[in-house]
Amino acid sequence: MQIKQIKNNIIDTLQDIYSKDELQSFARIISEHIIKKPYAYILANSDDVLDDYQQEEFANIINKLKQENPIQYILGEMEFYNINLFVEQGVLIPRNETEELVDWIIKDNQNKQDLNILDIGTGSGCIILSLSKALNPNSAKAVDVSNNALKIASKNANLNKLNIEFSKTNILNTKPSFFDKKFDIIVSNPPYVKESEKLLMKNNVLNYEPELALFVDDNNPLIFYDRIAKLASKILKPSGYLYFEINEALGKETVELIKKYGFADVVLRNDINDKPRMIRAKK
Ligand SMILES: C[S@@+](CC[C@H](N)C(=O)[O-])C[C@H]1O[C@@H](n2cnc3c(N)ncnc32)[C@H](O)[C@@H]1O
Repeated sequence: MQIKQIKNNIIDTLQDIYSKDELQSFARIISEHIIKKPYAYILANSDDVLDDYQQEEFANIINKLKQENPIQYILGEMEFYNINLFVEQGVLIPRNETEELVDWIIKDNQNKQDLNILDIGTGSGCIILSLSKALNPNSAKAVDVSNNALKIASKNANLNKLNIEFSKTNILNTKPSFFDKKFDIIVSNPPYVKESEKLLMKNNVLNYEPELALFVDDNNPLIFYDRIAKLASKILKPSGYLYFEINEALGKETVELIKKYGFADVVLRNDINDKPRMIRAKK
């Protein structure tokens, strides 16, 4: 098979399962992954023929995509806000909205020195790693209840040569005294999808991504925001900031809940698709 046939092969075999945009993006990511060259090289050498190893790798990737396995798990790597991340089943695949949250935090804090940052529910480590790289903080701490997540986040910290203190913590029953620091920034993208919203979700999420990272009980969908805002009210420095990614359907309720814990300046922000997806609150 020639390089230039990759795209059509992807479209022919997967068009019943994926959208046009998804197929387009697969063609690029898969070509770069298999040929291990930048896309400009791939376009300029599209008549080249794949060797046996590359051909076999391509066939394996297509088979897994047919089973709706997420492309990021199949390839085991992805980019997030200028850092390379290793991802595998057992950890949430970082989303574009989360990059927007990270961008907000960096723009707010880029001129500050000696920051102490805490990331709650770190998953792959995407938030704390990208913040650490951009803000060069005095200390960076990240917690998660999942062993898988902590293992992968540590691996990603090593890959990116960033010094993060990881710790296994169930944030729903952690006392403020567990944290010996006063933080300048606390950030969290906690589980926020209601069980009832499962119906709207695609198989590639439901069959492969960790439930623990996604879902909350319909009867108490803001449980993580409640616990984390309460905790943050005690362990943030005066004028420190709490940042959240949120469920777009629960913006107003989440703002009200945060205000209950004495945060004065609470800002709800829309993402690039004009959906309310993030909050900043000042202590
Ligand atoms: C929505 S994911 C976010 C992962 C990552 N921060 C990101 O933005 O891609 C939520 C994370 O919270 C973790 N988590 C779930 N329950 C938790 C708990 N009780 N205490 C601490 N972390 C928890 C999950 O393991 C998961 O990694």
